[in-house]
Amino acid sequence: PPQASPPPPPATPPAVVELGAVSGLDWQPLREAVAGCTACALSQSRTQTVFGVGHPQAHWMIVGEAPGEQEDLRGEPFVGPAGQLLDAMLRALAMSREAEGEPAQRVYIANTLKCRPPRNRNPAPEELQRCEPFLVRQIELVKPRIILAMGRFAVQALLRSSEPIGKLRGRVHRYQGVPLVVTYHPAYLLRNLPDKARAWDDLCLAAAVAERAGAGLSPRA
Ligand code: URA
Repeated sequence: PPQASPPPPPATPPAVVELGAVSGLDWQPLREAVAGCTACALSQSRTQTVFGVGHPQAHWMIVGEAPGEQEDLRGEPFVGPAGQLLDAMLRALAMSREAEGEPAQRVYIANTLKCRPPRNRNPAPEELQRCEPFLVRQIELVKPRIILAMGRFAVQALLRSSEPIGKLRGRVHRYQGVPLVVTYHPAYLLRNLPDKARAWDDLCLAAAVAERAGAGLSPRA
């Protein structure tokens, strides 16, 4: 029988989004760059990109993992069940994603991935790598006083650490000089209610750090 022809070579991977290509972008061009991104295969399965939400000059920056089903449909991060828990926790600190008033009440919320992974599977290393420049630029533009990294993918992206959350929480880390507090992902908290008290402690630590930064004091590391 004739020999089967060799399989076709894999399609050329799309160009990696270079940090340089987004490094100087202001909000609107950055938003457009995200909306048009085709750097990984998630661009083919998404309904839309999920850029981020909140005040562009917030004291708090919250970083989650990736859009889920609701987020993919609505184009906003944390609008499903995990987002409702997050909003409730923020409300308890007199903060909200809609806050326009006091800077201390403002928050900006973004994910490590701007597109939903199919069936909410974990982000792949290559997807995280290609999407990272967008988050880096969002943090540069917000210039937060405190970053709250929720869950292991946010921690991996920002701290380059694969230590478990339980080992990293409870102290102040740094991302590019910005104080960073690690906590559990709210979707995890929905399944592990006893850890909610620890997450609340983490939010209180973050609030104390942000307040100290405002008073010109360096946060206790
Ligand atoms: N989980 C996340 O990490 N981000 C979202 O936007 C929604 C759920």
